[in-house]
Amino acid sequence: MTALARHLADRIAAQGPLSVAEYMGECLLHPRHGYYTTRDPLGARGDFTTAPEISQMFGELLGLCLAQAWADQGAPGRFALAELGPGRGTLMADALRAVRGVPGFLDAAELHLVEASPTLRAAQDSALEGHAPRWHDSVETLPDDMPLYLVANEFLDALPIRQFRRMPGGWAEIVVTVTEGALAFALAPPGPAPLPTLAAREADTREGEIVEIRPATEPIAAAIAARIAAHGGAAIFVDYGTWRGVGDTLQALRGHAPEPPLASPGAADLTSHVDFAPLAEAARAAGAAASGLTPQGVLLERLGITARARALAARLGGAKLDAHVAAHRRLTHPEEMGNLFKALALHPVQAPCPPGFDP
Ligand SMILES: C[S@@+](CC[C@H](N)C(=O)[O-])C[C@H]1O[C@@H](n2cnc3c(N)ncnc32)[C@H](O)[C@@H]1O
Repeated sequence: MTALARHLADRIAAQGPLSVAEYMGECLLHPRHGYYTTRDPLGARGDFTTAPEISQMFGELLGLCLAQAWADQGAPGRFALAELGPGRGTLMADALRAVRGVPGFLDAAELHLVEASPTLRAAQDSALEGHAPRWHDSVETLPDDMPLYLVANEFLDALPIRQFRRMPGGWAEIVVTVTEGALAFALAPPGPAPLPTLAAREADTREGEIVEIRPATEPIAAAIAARIAAHGGAAIFVDYGTWRGVGDTLQALRGHAPEPPLASPGAADLTSHVDFAPLAEAARAAGAAASGLTPQGVLLERLGITARARALAARLGGAKLDAHVAAHRRLTHPEEMGNLFKALALHPVQAPCPPGFDP
């Protein structure tokens, strides 16, 4: 049992079962034992890898996409360039390097990072040296008096979800309890949907199906969309997921291998697929426009990844060239990340959709 598993078992004994969201929140961000609070989980020696860690092309193209959206909106003279959950800072470092050729962009940008992990804040500090980033605990404190150009890759999937099973008597929440000395999933008694977003799923689900609700989605979407609607800007979200997903997608990864989500709390990454529908709906309700859901492979091809890959390949040979070709395929091929990962952009209603996105 991990130290966090013992702490959670004591808490359950004292206060009763935890929702999956409470369990996930403790596992990822417990101040002493949380997965993100205690380590840098990325890369070959960590538990998983992400698109920016696979190739510099990912951050470069998303940076240029935001720069084009900025130019399309009249190149405002002062704006917030923000990232949610920047990991090691790799995406932003690649983006900042790529946009150096866009006149005026970097001079007008203030860099803002939303990051919960002290370990990863330190990594971002060294990756983004010279760009004077300001850190935030939440999107609520991002500047609200200037345009906002924002990117978030694999941020939403790390936010806690609640899980509900549709039953004859309503919705039964899946909870975490202790059975025979070990953490175990159980079902709470069914009842009416406790959340409006869950009630809305009665139209497209059947008895027995599981629906996952990520309560932080709407406040985050609303805070960002309100800033974009008021002052201009754009936001790009990339994550694995779908539109109005159904089913249990909670997964744990440790050392690049899946394991049961209750096996080692605090020592494994815990994520679930992102449902982009509530994000788009909350953003529209707050006054911004949302693009269509665009597969990552399609987005990167439209942004010019093949031309960029060829230009980089011309300078490489041997094992480095093989790794580069494999990285291009991994990011874009439909059987790798190209289709599983999707992208959604927010923008002002009166401004064009950022390039590469289905409108
Ligand atoms: C899966 S990693 C993705 C890292 C990076 N975007 C990348 O693509 O390599 C998730 C990131 O979100 C951060 N994070 C997770 N939950 C958070 C929260 N509630 N608030 C702020 N940051 C959070 C993590 O510390 C980490 O930087």
